[in-house]
Amino acid sequence: MDGASYPVSPVKVVHSDVVVVGSGTAGMATALALTGAGRRVALLTKTDDLPGGSSLWAQGGVAVALGAGDSAADHAADTVAAGAGLTDPGMARLLAEAGIAEMSALLEAGLPADRGADGKPLLGREAAHGRHRILHAGGDATGRTLVTFLAARVRATPGIAVHTRAMAADLVVRDLGRGRRAQGVLAYEDGVGWVLHVAPHVVLATGGTGQLWAVTTNPPEATGDGMALAARAGAHLADLEFVQFHPTALAVAGPPGRRPLLTEALRGAGAKVLDASGHAFMADEHPDAELAPRDVVARAIGRRVARGEAVFLDLRPLWAAGGAKKFPTVAGICAEVGLDPAAAPVPVAPAAHYHMGGVLTDADGRTSIPGLWAAGEVACTHVHGANRLASNSLLEAVVFAGRVAAALVAESAASQPVAVPVAPTVPGGPAAANLAAQAQTLMAEKVGLVRDGAGLAEAALRLSALSAAAERLAPADDYAGIRAGLELRNRLVLSRLVVEAAKRREESRGAHTRADHPETRDAWRHHQILTYSDLGRGAEAEPALTRENRP
Ligand code: SIN
Repeated sequence: MDGASYPVSPVKVVHSDVVVVGSGTAGMATALALTGAGRRVALLTKTDDLPGGSSLWAQGGVAVALGAGDSAADHAADTVAAGAGLTDPGMARLLAEAGIAEMSALLEAGLPADRGADGKPLLGREAAHGRHRILHAGGDATGRTLVTFLAARVRATPGIAVHTRAMAADLVVRDLGRGRRAQGVLAYEDGVGWVLHVAPHVVLATGGTGQLWAVTTNPPEATGDGMALAARAGAHLADLEFVQFHPTALAVAGPPGRRPLLTEALRGAGAKVLDASGHAFMADEHPDAELAPRDVVARAIGRRVARGEAVFLDLRPLWAAGGAKKFPTVAGICAEVGLDPAAAPVPVAPAAHYHMGGVLTDADGRTSIPGLWAAGEVACTHVHGANRLASNSLLEAVVFAGRVAAALVAESAASQPVAVPVAPTVPGGPAAANLAAQAQTLMAEKVGLVRDGAGLAEAALRLSALSAAAERLAPADDYAGIRAGLELRNRLVLSRLVVEAAKRREESRGAHTRADHPETRDAWRHHQILTYSDLGRGAEAEPALTRENRP
C-alpha cells in the first residue's frame, strides 16, 4: 500500500456500549442478551441483510440433552470422545449443561421446534452421539429457522442498531496507560464511508473460515475476518490446524466457493456411500460404516476423489420412503441442479466445513485483549478439541453468546477518547477475486484433508507471494471493492496462520492428518497457541489500517 496516494476523507464516529461484529446465531444472540441487560449495541454485518453467516445453511440440528434417559454428562462424554484428546472436559460439561437451559429458554420464547404427537420436541440421532439428542426446527432447515427467529427479534429491538453492508477493517486497540484494550472497530459502510465505532467492548461473532478453501459448505462471507482482525491486533489464536471437512457436499462443478451440504442426518436415516461400481465401501473402512466419525468418512471419500474416482450418496431407499418431505432442503438443492435422488445416487465430495480453532477465549468469551470478546465459530473455547461432534456448533453459539453477554455486563468499562484515524486506502477491487481463487486452490491442494511437510512449506511460500501481490492491487473506491480487498487480506493472513499451525503439528490427530506423520503422539496432546508475530518478519512489516501516522 505504501507509495500509493491516500485520499483523505472524513471518518464518521459512532458511539455505543458494545460493538458486535457478525450476524449469525452468535452475533444476534449476543446482541439480544446485551440489550436485555440495557446495553446499546451496534451490530455490524458485511452482508446485505440479517441474518448472515453459516448458521443459515446449517442442515444439522442442535445437540441438547433433553431426552428421557439422556444427561448433560452423557452429552459431554460424547463431545470429549469426538475431540481426539483435545476437548476440555470442563468446557464440554459447561456446554452440555448450559445448553439445556439456553435451548429450553429459546423453546419457551417460541422457537418453532419439530414436535411429536405428544407435543414434545422430536430428538434425532447423529454419528458419535450415544443418544437421540438432536433437536430440529423445520426439518433439515434448523439453522435457517433459528436465525430467522433471532433476526425477527433483533429487528424488533430498538437498542440494537444494525449496520448492514458494513465491513470491519480493523480493531481499534489502544494502550491507555493501564495496558492495551479494545476501543472499537473501524469499518467501511456502503453509502456512508469510513466509520469509527467507538465502544469499550467489541464482540467478534464472525463465524468460520470455510472460504479459505476452494470447496466449502460455508457461505461467501466465511473468510475468517474475525480471526484475522484479532490476529492483526495481537490476540492469541489456538488450534488453527484443526479444520473439519464435511464428507458429503454435493459434487457439482463450478468456480472455487460454496458447495451445497448433504446433511449427515441422511446417513443417519440409512443413506449409503457408494463408489463408482455401486459398492458401499464405508463398511470396509470402519465398524460404524456410514456413521463412523466425520473425519474417517471424509478421508475415505477424499482418498477416492483424489484418485479421480466418483463417489455417490444413495438416497433412493430413503426417498422411496418419503425422505424428500423430511429433508426439504436437500430435495430443493438436488432439484436446483437437476438431480433426482429417487432415480440415481447423487455425487458427493468432502468440503471445508468448520474450524475447531479460532480466537482463544476463556469460558466467558474473553480473549487475550481486554475489551475484546469472541463467541461462536470464531472463538476457540477448547470445547471441540481436534474434531467437533455433529450439531454442537449451533449450541455453542447460543451458549457462549449468553455467557459473553453476562460476563461483559458484569465488567464496567467506559469508552475512552480515541484518536480518529485517517481514512485508509485499501488495495482491492475486482482483481482481488483472482488472487483469492489462487489462494483457495492452493489451500485445497496443500492444506486439505491430508497434509505433509513439503506441501505445507510450499503453501507458506506461495501464500507470502500472494500477500505481496495483494498489497500491490489498485486502491478500491467502492464498498464491493473495499470488502473484496479486506477479505483477501483476512483470508491470506489466516491461511498463513493455518499453514504455520499445521506445519508445526507433526502428528495426525482428529481432523488434522499428516501423511508424513500418520501416528498420534502423546507429546502432541496439547493445544497450539499462535500470534500474528509467528508469521515472522512479513507479518511485522504489514501495515495496520488504523495506524495514525499514515499520510
Ligand atoms: C450436517 O448436517 O451434516 C452438519 C451438521 C453439523 O455440522 O453439525
